[in-house]
Amino acid sequence: MTPSTLDLPAMLARRRPGYSLERPFYTSQALFELDLERIFYRQWLYAIPACQLAKPGHYVTHRVGAYNLVLVRGQDGRIRAFHNTCRHRGSILCNKPQGSVAKLVCPYHQWTYELDGRLLWARSMGDDFDPAEHGLKRVHCRELCGLVYICLADEAPDFDAFAELAEPYLGVHELADARVAHVSTIVEQANWKLVWENNRECYHCSVCHPSLCHSFDVDPDIAGVRPDGSVAPRLQAHFERCEQAGVAAQFRMDPAGQYRLARMPLQAGAVSYTLDGQVGVQRPLGRVGIPDAGTLMKFHYPSTWCHLLPDQAMTFRVNPLGPTSTEVTTTWLVHKDAVEGVDYDLERLTRVWIDTNNEDREIVEDNQRGINSPAYEPGPYSPEEESGVAQFVEWYCDALQGAGQEGRQARQCVTRRTQAG
Ligand code: FES
Ligand SMILES: [Fe+2]
Repeated sequence: MTPSTLDLPAMLARRRPGYSLERPFYTSQALFELDLERIFYRQWLYAIPACQLAKPGHYVTHRVGAYNLVLVRGQDGRIRAFHNTCRHRGSILCNKPQGSVAKLVCPYHQWTYELDGRLLWARSMGDDFDPAEHGLKRVHCRELCGLVYICLADEAPDFDAFAELAEPYLGVHELADARVAHVSTIVEQANWKLVWENNRECYHCSVCHPSLCHSFDVDPDIAGVRPDGSVAPRLQAHFERCEQAGVAAQFRMDPAGQYRLARMPLQAGAVSYTLDGQVGVQRPLGRVGIPDAGTLMKFHYPSTWCHLLPDQAMTFRVNPLGPTSTEVTTTWLVHKDAVEGVDYDLERLTRVWIDTNNEDREIVEDNQRGINSPAYEPGPYSPEEESGVAQFVEWYCDALQGAGQEGRQARQCVTRRTQAG
């Protein structure tokens, strides 16, 4: 099936709000390519925590759809993103997932680039050759409170509104001064939207996530706002206590529903995502100040959610690999001076979310296998438990139709019972 044989307008027109999508949205190569073209190649995408590139010359490679990218910290301390493609005859420049270099040197004929992308040296290219015309191609790159975002579009959509909303929440976590304690990358054999749909509800949590349920509060009055937009008194009290301590906490969502932040309490007595609910890292990360501030949950479609706690932070990156294949990368951050074996035990720190990710992978893959059958038809989301899923699908359909810029109708969506973001 090619994009031209997919009748997308008809598929969207007959879509029932509050229901899961038709099968091709989750299975079709053509739809997958549209998702890349219209969403992943256009929107700001979370790439890495900035501290992953601790020093000048540190780089990571990354792939988004067909694009190979490299992110590198320059001598000036700034992180930049480039297409990982040499301007001579196009070879990949950096082959490894990550590393440290003085310059970016192409392995083929050794064209040599400065860390800011300028071409410094190219042998035997003649007198007419102008190195200034052959610098690496830039990719939009922004760092916000230690989180690095990229955008592949020629003209990136606005980032400042997100930055303005998010900075008061993120700043206290001081992620730019953190250290990567662990990275886990798993591939889920499922469409990226099923990964998100699963993320945006906790209807499944009490049965599927025994480890998480030691600390995460699945009470719908705590894990989300009510359908009428009101906030449960216990949740409101938590917000107020955090904000009195100078820590932003209230629900904030952009009008288009692409990103949301809220600082949610954990279960009574729990302060972090460990099996006993106690701190995972003895040395606090950032200056949250109140140990039981809970978890700052941020989602930002289409590429990331995260959990930021007073002792640790986890970022999650969603990267579609194919119509039924999605890479999920989880990165655990701790204070830069926290010492493994002294301030934290890595197994204890990572246990809950390694378990939770694996459990989510299984249920999402089961979801995909069921949808692969021609017998699948869209089913209804629970208004009590899955309004966050419906909200994601509304955002997705808007974004797919290219209505992401002016003229899009702002949707006021209520999120309820959101597990992870
Ligand atoms: S392709 Fe890179 S130097 Fe030739
Ligand atoms: Fe889950």
